[in-house]
Amino acid sequence: MSDLLRDLWYFAAPSRELKRGEMFRREILGDPVLLGRDEEGRAFAMRDICPHRAVPLSAGRIVSNDGVQTVECPYHGWRYGTQDGVCKLIPSLVEGQPYDAGRIRVRHFPTHEANGIVLVFVSSDPKFAGAAPPAPEFGLAELTEPKFVIHRVFAAAMDNAVVGLMDPAHVPYVHNQWWWRPPSTGKKLKEKRFVPRERGWSIERHKPASNSLAYKYLFGGDVTTEISFMLPGFRWEVVETPRSRLFTLTCLTPENENSTRITQVTYWRDAIWLDLIKPILIPAASEFLDQDGRMVDLQNSGLAYSPSMLWIDDIDVQAKWYLKLKREWAKSREENRDFVNPIEPVTLKWMS
Ligand code: FES
Ligand SMILES: [Fe+2]
Repeated sequence: MSDLLRDLWYFAAPSRELKRGEMFRREILGDPVLLGRDEEGRAFAMRDICPHRAVPLSAGRIVSNDGVQTVECPYHGWRYGTQDGVCKLIPSLVEGQPYDAGRIRVRHFPTHEANGIVLVFVSSDPKFAGAAPPAPEFGLAELTEPKFVIHRVFAAAMDNAVVGLMDPAHVPYVHNQWWWRPPSTGKKLKEKRFVPRERGWSIERHKPASNSLAYKYLFGGDVTTEISFMLPGFRWEVVETPRSRLFTLTCLTPENENSTRITQVTYWRDAIWLDLIKPILIPAASEFLDQDGRMVDLQNSGLAYSPSMLWIDDIDVQAKWYLKLKREWAKSREENRDFVNPIEPVTLKWMS
């Protein structure tokens, strides 16, 4: 556990955090990354270290250089294209000094913006300048604008955060608030069909658990849910009735080996009652994340002693799959071949 996967798209930020003409610094996979939106409205991402003398470019400003949008370093004014990271100007050069600024390039991360979120492609080759592979498709379709976005930073390695996210057995103990899973509802036998899908798996469409009160009261009887996971750390849950649709996309992005940013993006359509209770939904969803965060902190006090961990059937099969998918991803990169999903369709059972 702990190798961070590359050559994949990671969640960077909600679109609305990237304001036109502004930029900010964030750590992604151990690199400081400058995220911003240029004056033409395009999101961009580059390594937040000026190749000249290492000053963070995020302390500079966005300026147009001969009609090209650039980030200007605050130290000596070198300018880098927002869309390619190539140096467009070294202001100190004079006539007759033929130094070619275009040979200098700050690491540039391809970005993809859709459905109100911005993803960045993190290549294994820091000099990568080609076309990134297609960004992941979550099936958000017409859900173009998130209703709300919440995030937390967990003091956890990526793997631990992902495993915690997909662990069904902790729900009745950690998330047992009265309106969600009161202890009085007891545990029920869960039996779910899992099928492989692109770099991950899905739990086939099913009726939500009858001991999950919120779903029952908010959606009534005619409701189904579908849950999917995809490398490197995307989990999404669709709750649907013939009329309405609720979509929760949870994105994990490692800041570094010991810290993981978790962002939950929530969408819905044709659900007026969700619009009505939105003011209480946001703190409720935040409470979920905080409950997980507190457990991560507790777990850290044990992990400090590097114990080995146990994986129990069937409840931990997903955790094992995640590690298997990671290994296959790393191997397929190494061997320069297509990724082959190692998961077989299976029905898993557990009490929760
Ligand atoms: S440090 Fe950035 S231009 Fe000199
Ligand atoms: Fe949780």
